Amino acid sequence: MAKIVGTITTSHVPAIGGAIAKGLQNDPYWKPFFDGFPPVRDWLASVKPDVVVVAYNDHGLNFFLDKMPTFAIGAAPEYRNADEGWGIPVVPPFQGDPALSWHMIESLVAEDFDLVTCQEMSVDHAFTLPMALLWPEQKWPVRTVPVVVNTVQSPLPSAARCYKLGQAIGRAIASWPGDERVVVLGTGGLSHQLDGERAGFINKDFDLKFMESLVNDPTWATQYSTVELVELAGTQGVELLNWLVARGTLPNKVRQVHVNYHIPISNTASGLQVLEPA
Ligand code: DHB
Ligand code: FE
Repeated sequence: MAKIVGTITTSHVPAIGGAIAKGLQNDPYWKPFFDGFPPVRDWLASVKPDVVVVAYNDHGLNFFLDKMPTFAIGAAPEYRNADEGWGIPVVPPFQGDPALSWHMIESLVAEDFDLVTCQEMSVDHAFTLPMALLWPEQKWPVRTVPVVVNTVQSPLPSAARCYKLGQAIGRAIASWPGDERVVVLGTGGLSHQLDGERAGFINKDFDLKFMESLVNDPTWATQYSTVELVELAGTQGVELLNWLVARGTLPNKVRQVHVNYHIPISNTASGLQVLEPA
């Protein structure tokens, strides 16, 4: 039986790619952000995952506004990054795990989650930069399964639905006969708004409450509609839906291994949290 050894949830700002390319990890602006990651890499070295399931939102590289699935899942042997227009270097391709992907698809569709299945899929900064923060040498030692959530174009899936998708992914992985060790990585958020009258909006109180809730009261955020979450966290802060997918894969009782929070990275409040089953 495959086992989820824990979750990592983190922000995914394109400027991180530029900072990595320029070697700015110890620059005063960037240091409080990058310093969050060595403990996560130590934890990864101890839990030794074989597979990373990545819950994230695509920003127009693979899906555009003309065709926007609410939920999609990769079932490809390989996932490639490409130039998204942020001026950040393209990272090496990621190995997929088609057998596990198809098992997850079978299990999720049987549970009435009607995901779009993608046998070809490119992955954008929301997938690649968190991976590059976890494995800075960019020699990925894991296979990957992308799970894409629409946090971009209204109507978005509800927080409750995203949490339930995570629970169903947890059951799918638990019923896989292999002995893989799986980490679930959720990317995006925390509070930020890139456009409109509230551009630059950050809500530290909400972010800290949200991260605390994932430890002690994991369905707390599901009381809010997606419109309310946009009000609380910003139009792009609603990317926290990906954190709820990740959190849903864990049992109710968890242990917080690591947490970091820093404002701002570009326009974003950056959060980082590692949880494992208690
Ligand atoms: C920024 C944040 C994002 O989540 C994103 O996808 C693009 C840009 C930013 O803060 O610059
Ligand atoms: Fe984003």
